Amino acid sequence: MRKIIITGGRPLKGEIPVSGAKNSVVALIPAMILADEPITLDGVPDLSDVANLVEMLSLLGVKVNRQQESLTADPSGLVNRPIPPEMISQLRASYYFYGSLLGRFGYAKVGLPGGCDLGPRPIDLHLKAFEALGAQVTYEGDHMILSTGGRRLQGAHIFMDTVSVGATINTMIAASLAQGRTVIENSAREPEIIDVAILLNNMGARIRGAGTAVITIDGVERLGGTRHQVIPDRIEAGSYIALAAAVGEGICVTNVLYEHLESFIAKLEEMGVRMIVKEDAVFVEKQEALRAVDISTSPYPGFATDLQQPLTPLLLKAQGRGKIKDTIYEKRVNHVPELARMGAEISTLGGQIIYTGGKPLSGAEVRATDLRAGLALITAALMADGQTVITDIEHILRGYSNIIEKLQALGADITLVDE
Ligand code: UD1
Repeated sequence: MRKIIITGGRPLKGEIPVSGAKNSVVALIPAMILADEPITLDGVPDLSDVANLVEMLSLLGVKVNRQQESLTADPSGLVNRPIPPEMISQLRASYYFYGSLLGRFGYAKVGLPGGCDLGPRPIDLHLKAFEALGAQVTYEGDHMILSTGGRRLQGAHIFMDTVSVGATINTMIAASLAQGRTVIENSAREPEIIDVAILLNNMGARIRGAGTAVITIDGVERLGGTRHQVIPDRIEAGSYIALAAAVGEGICVTNVLYEHLESFIAKLEEMGVRMIVKEDAVFVEKQEALRAVDISTSPYPGFATDLQQPLTPLLLKAQGRGKIKDTIYEKRVNHVPELARMGAEISTLGGQIIYTGGKPLSGAEVRATDLRAGLALITAALMADGQTVITDIEHILRGYSNIIEKLQALGADITLVDE
């Protein structure tokens, strides 16, 4: 079993670089199979989610070459093989292969997605969109089959009942090779959607409006090769800015696109966090007194649900009481009992998290129940007195590229042990 062991209380300073966006790259990789020529992605983070998706590419006959942060995929020998449940369930975002296989072949046989346990995470919007584009959805044992019966997908007018990042991207991917025009209304507006649209357009797709609530896709006959730079990970950036404010004595978080973090930075300013926003970096000073604030998550450009847990340890440092309401994933509260075990005054009540800041934390044995909870525990452990042992760290390694090395470079006493 692998664990992370942290001894808190060390002064952290220096620079911490942000890698390419996980939520972007997990869609960019499946989207590459829409092309019939090689595509290179630059700025690919070193994550187990990426390794798992590359395994799926190989299963489909795609030649992959990875060199440092570049990944080249040659889909010219693509074959439409079923992706088995045990592969698909390794990460939720593998469902983007549903859209790309369907777009390319009009047929996909795939297992059902997995991912962090944040309560029920249906994929009904994805399936409704595929159906609107002319696919039929059936089930065969533990596989799902999406099929157009040999026809090309047909452009359609789709209204998303709920704002969904995944369903918006998956529809965009599938519709790129459809016949005619697809309009997605009530689309999500996350920066990762723009990143995927840029890749697809550079491959030859005709997508307009990505980043707004209405996206129009005019289907094309084929897509070709290109080279694409993945955007910086805004969630990793926000996580490290919060960590720097909690335990840093002057930390510069680099490779940051500030425009993607405005609602988050505004919250930190409300708390009294002192930082200097530079062109592509944020310098976080050593903090004095901080104020408790309330957080309510919402779709982009609102406060990201993915940053709620990473911010929680910093909130525990602030003076006063506050509450956190996650309107996207109400069950995203698994970090609460773990932080309480470390001495935090924090609990859940009526679908909200209630906290009182100012109580010192002490080291404990805790469990990283999901990816962002894991980051919260790392930050809390760096703040705490004594040693913390974090288990179930696979979740953390799914989403934070080289996190151990990056924190060691700041002076943190953090090690990964494999027992
Ligand atoms: C993406 C992000 C995840 C982030 C989430 C919300 C990726 C790989 N993951 O997840 O990190 O926390 O956005 O910003 O990009 N819903 C339905 N039916 C569906 C799809 C979604 O009801 O078919 C609901 C979900 O349960 C949730 C809400 O819509 O309540 C938003 O989910 P969605 O934006 O789809 O999240 P993901 O794309 O899974």
